[in-house]
Amino acid sequence: MLERTEGDRLDSARAVATLPGMLPRWIAPSILSADFARLGEEVNAVLDAGADLIHFDVMDNHYVPNLTVGPMVCTALHRHAPHAALDVHLMITPVDRIVADFAAAGATYISFHPEATEHVDRSIELIREHGCRPGLVLNPASPLNWLDYTLEKLDLVLIMSVNPGFGGQPFIPSALDKLAAVRQRIDATGKPIRLEVDGGVKVDNIAEIARAGADTFVAGSAIFESGDYRATIREMRERIARGV
Ligand code: DX5
Ligand code: ZN
Repeated sequence: MLERTEGDRLDSARAVATLPGMLPRWIAPSILSADFARLGEEVNAVLDAGADLIHFDVMDNHYVPNLTVGPMVCTALHRHAPHAALDVHLMITPVDRIVADFAAAGATYISFHPEATEHVDRSIELIREHGCRPGLVLNPASPLNWLDYTLEKLDLVLIMSVNPGFGGQPFIPSALDKLAAVRQRIDATGKPIRLEVDGGVKVDNIAEIARAGADTFVAGSAIFESGDYRATIREMRERIARGV
């Protein structure tokens, strides 16, 4: 089994001020909005700018109506930036067959949508057996009861605040109540399970999203379409810390 320590090191290195019981807040730029012709440079640029995690969106033109990148590109980025923690978000079906490939490609987290696999518990176990951190992703209309028998087995819950498939969509406000409800469930477990949000996260709404309970913030267009990655990430952290 592969040893995965990127997240552990990040947790201690980024011990910034947080609410009691909350994990350090992480900013995860989504490379979906990066310049794909210069992907390695873009990853280095956001890491230099202070990103904690690289969010890697995998789409299959079947589970979602778009097609992106797979394990080969993940391997290339892992070789290019071996210190980067890779947050692989699978929007594909089936899930299980590709898990080993992404583990070998250097994934730190592997998250999937429960509707995209036949046996959710088995997929979670499979990710863990391959030395990665499992995450479950809930779409805007997906109920929280997917977490009833899975939450304690997870390292991450990802709440979609847009329908998956494309960057640059507006934040769906009902995600705030959902984040607050999942925050309560995670806190009740007492386990260091991350609560991530994905879709429409911007400088202007990140404080409200943080107040709802998210600790891990995916942002694609907000970062890659900004002129200054460092300034945007810094502003996001400041807004989270200020709460407004
Ligand atoms: C959408 C993807 C997101 C996307 C977010 O299906 O899962 O990660 O890149 O993009 P923004 O931040 O532009 O909404
Ligand atoms: Zn994503």
